[in-house]
Amino acid sequence: MKGKFITFEGCEGVGKSTQAKLLIKYLEEKGYDVVFTREPGGTPVAERIREILLDPTLEITSRTEAHLFVAARNDHIENVILPNLEKGKIVICDRYVDSSIAYQGVARNLGIEYIEELNKVAFETCLPDCTVFINMDPANSWRKQIGEVIEDDRMESENAMFHAKCFKGFLEASKRYKNRYLVVEPLEDKMQTFNKILEGLKDRKII
Ligand code: TYD
Repeated sequence: MKGKFITFEGCEGVGKSTQAKLLIKYLEEKGYDVVFTREPGGTPVAERIREILLDPTLEITSRTEAHLFVAARNDHIENVILPNLEKGKIVICDRYVDSSIAYQGVARNLGIEYIEELNKVAFETCLPDCTVFINMDPANSWRKQIGEVIEDDRMESENAMFHAKCFKGFLEASKRYKNRYLVVEPLEDKMQTFNKILEGLKDRKII
């Protein structure tokens, strides 16, 4: 594999996508060939599965939910992530397998081992070179601090207890997979947070 695979993880409203976009801009300005993608989604099939997963009018069991995330991920790995890594590009993905560990494994109580088994393709053939984890409690996320409450999708409208469990799941994942984790405590100034990410990626020789 010639390229680099960087994922961004964290709870809702903690500025994960903002940081991912800052990194893309930085890398593109440096002349790197960057592909930005997201999960669930990133391919026509996975985007259709995303519509089902986030539809607040649907009731989906935990196991079905976990399998749908994996189906979307497999399509994404085969059609976007691996082909671009093989071309030597830097692939940056907003959420990936660690979201399944935190949300389905821990918050939905399916168990981390169950999610690892289900996500064998990701764990065995397509693990990130680095997972940037924005370490912020969703109870006081930036979005909560400015009083913005968006509960328009099926996952976001889960209660505070669910989101607290997701956070616990990410903290567990950051210990379990510590070799590939870059844990970043966000600061109010997003550029300061970004500089910490940049430093971490450079220290690890990812970029
Ligand atoms: P999205 O709008 O992309 O979330 P955010 O803006 O917070 O990144 O919606 C994706 C939702 O799906 C989010 O609530 C996290 C959840 N999710 C899982 O539960 N499992 C997964 O494997 C992935 C990739 C996402």
